[in-house]
Amino acid sequence: MSELAIGVFDSGVGGLTCVKELTRLMPHEDIIYLGDTARVPYGTKSVDTIARYAREDIAFLERFNVKMILIACGTVSSVLMSRPLFENSSVSSYSGVIYPTVSAACAETLNKRIGVIGTPATIRSGCYGKAIREIRSDIKVFSKACPMFVPLVENGYTAKDDPVALMIAREYLEDMKREGVDTLILGCTHYPHLEGVISSVMGDNVRLISSGAEIAKYAERTLISSGEAAQRKEHGRITLYCTDSEELFSENVETFLGHKDNITISACSVK
Ligand code: DGL
Repeated sequence: MSELAIGVFDSGVGGLTCVKELTRLMPHEDIIYLGDTARVPYGTKSVDTIARYAREDIAFLERFNVKMILIACGTVSSVLMSRPLFENSSVSSYSGVIYPTVSAACAETLNKRIGVIGTPATIRSGCYGKAIREIRSDIKVFSKACPMFVPLVENGYTAKDDPVALMIAREYLEDMKREGVDTLILGCTHYPHLEGVISSVMGDNVRLISSGAEIAKYAERTLISSGEAAQRKEHGRITLYCTDSEELFSENVETFLGHKDNITISACSVK
C-alpha cells in the first residue's frame, strides 16, 4: 500500500474527466492535479513545444513525490508517445491515455468500425489508429480533428442543447456518422464534457469512450495489482493547481466535477 498521491496533468480542465472517475473508483486516494490553463490549448502547438510543456508539467508533479503520474491529455499522450518523457524521472509508474482507451474501444465495438476524434495534433499523429491495429487488425478506423471543441469546453459551452456547440458538432461529426461507427473514442480528455452534444449528433446507439475515464480505470487496476492502493479510511484530498487565474478555473471545476467540497485550488507556476 502507498498513501502517496496520484499525480494527473492536462493542458486545462480536460483531465478533470480523469479526476472525476478516479474519485469515484478510488475515493481514498489523494490526487494532485495540474491544469496548464495559461498555455492551453496544446493541440495546435508544435511537437517540440508540447514536449517542453509536458516535461515541465511532469517536473511540477514530481515535486510532490507522487506514486504515479497520469497523462490525462490525449495530445501529450499521442504526440509524445515515442519520446522518453520519464527517462530521468523519480516516478516509475505512469501512463498516457492511448492504450487504456483503445483497449476499451476494441472490446466495445460490434461492427468493427471505430471513430476517433481529437485535437489536430492527436489526429495528425495517427496514434490511436496505430494502437487499435496493434490490438485488432480487422477494425476500420475513422478519424477527425475537432479543433473548436476545446475552446467550447474551456468557455463553458457544454450543455447538450447549446446551439453553438450543436452546430459545430454536426459539422465535425457528419462524416463519422455516415461511416456508421458504433464506437467513438473521445480522444481528447476535454471532449467528455461535450458528451451530451456529441451523443445528440451521433445517436444513442453509438458508444462513447472517454479517454479520461479509461485512464482512471487503468490507474485503479494498476494500483490494486501492485498493492499500492491507499488504505486510509477517510476520503483522499484533492488538490488542483492551474497556471492561470484561480477564479476562472474554480468556476470550471464546479461545473465539471459537480462540486468543490474538500477540494483545494491554487494557482502555480510550472517553470
Ligand atoms: N485535454 C487535451 C487533450 O486531451 C486538450 C488538448 C489541448 O490542449 O489542445 O488533448
